[in-house]
Amino acid sequence: MSRQARAAICRELNRPVVVEEITVDPPKAGEVTVKLAACGVCHSDLSATNGTLAMPLPLVLGHEAAGEVIEVGPGVSSLSAGDHVVSSFIYMCGECRFCVAGRPVLCIEQGKAITTLPDGTVRTRDARGQPLNVFSGCGVMAEYATMHVDNLVKIDPKMPLDRAALVGCAVTTGVGAVFNTARVAPGSSVAVFGCGGVGLNVIQGARIAGAERIIAIDTLEAKLDMAKEFGATDTLLSKAGEDVAKALKKLTGGGPDYAFECVGNGELAATAYRAIRRGGVAVVVGVAKPGDSTAVRTMTLPFEEKTLTGSYFGSCIPRIDFPRMLALYMRGRLKLDELITRRYSIGEAPQAFADLESGRNARGVIVF
Ligand SMILES: NC(=O)c1ccc[n+]([C@@H]2O[C@H](COP(=O)([O-])OP(=O)(O)OC[C@H]3O[C@@H](n4cnc5c(N)ncnc54)[C@H](O)[C@@H]3O)[C@@H](O)[C@H]2O)c1
Ligand SMILES: [Zn+2]
Ligand SMILES: [Zn+2]
Repeated sequence: MSRQARAAICRELNRPVVVEEITVDPPKAGEVTVKLAACGVCHSDLSATNGTLAMPLPLVLGHEAAGEVIEVGPGVSSLSAGDHVVSSFIYMCGECRFCVAGRPVLCIEQGKAITTLPDGTVRTRDARGQPLNVFSGCGVMAEYATMHVDNLVKIDPKMPLDRAALVGCAVTTGVGAVFNTARVAPGSSVAVFGCGGVGLNVIQGARIAGAERIIAIDTLEAKLDMAKEFGATDTLLSKAGEDVAKALKKLTGGGPDYAFECVGNGELAATAYRAIRRGGVAVVVGVAKPGDSTAVRTMTLPFEEKTLTGSYFGSCIPRIDFPRMLALYMRGRLKLDELITRRYSIGEAPQAFADLESGRNARGVIVF
């Protein structure tokens, strides 16, 4: 059956998101309908509303959510009604060369249907019957969503759903960048640029990995306080005109072993690369505007054997990494309670986006 749902939608670039009543159609083959319990508000959602991420409008936002399966389509055997699930904004076909090689974030098929379900159509319509695109096959900032089973991961029903939602992006992106992309070694030094939902998770990932020094960098003092709570050993308040790379080299006696850019800015990526020591690794996690670029001094690549790399969704395998993150939380090693600064109703979605933009929250979460 079709269901009515309130959803946060971007209709026009650089305008506040709007909350509308939409129709969510039932699942087709390989799909399920989920009743969402909570959805985190990620900077990537904001980036879709300002054109940094070019996604066709109108668009149902949201890609970091958890809920309960209420209806399954034909041919679905891996999920049934009542299962608790977390959304995955990467679709994994399981068959392309990247999926087979254990790198589903690079799945060729997911690139073909970024704002629809994998078959190229959507199950979402507005009050006038016009189809609505969905953020990364998800569109989970809504009371209901119909999604492909390969964009969902079943989780332990004991896990509180508002905190489980965060594993759908911020946690897996940040902790995964440390565990999977950079494979941070115990005893190493790590610099983290940007202490939002993603950066704070890089910090706690580095703490769990046994990094000895974790230096948090942000332009907001309040974010540096949060960074300390998540495991930063040192903090640097970044001010215009100051050379952060130089300060990091001084602090660490030559530069950190790893630096993570979690803002989305080519110049910061270059600063992260300049800051790392010989043989170090700089990881770009932030998503910059399409025209943005990063310059490195070319000769440092051979002579200093530095690496500049990127990390998409923490280079994760959702069905392996989501349960792994939740297990770390259940064992008291991963902080999720502390990540949620504020909970919002769906009607308060515009406020949640404004608070994200002003840097008020570690993470804001919409609860349904
Ligand atoms: N690679 C991925 O798979 C992936 C996944 C999720 C999000 N992202 C991207 O990661 C970035 C961070 O996302 P988020 O949700 O944590 O955002 P956020 O808005 O919560 O956090 C960004 C932080 O960066 C700080 N900041 C801004 N300018 C800075 C500067 N010049 N130096 C230091 N700090 C600065 C802000 O004060 C804020 O604390 C975004 O670009 C987002 O699109 C990437
Ligand atoms: Zn995200
Ligand atoms: Zn694939």
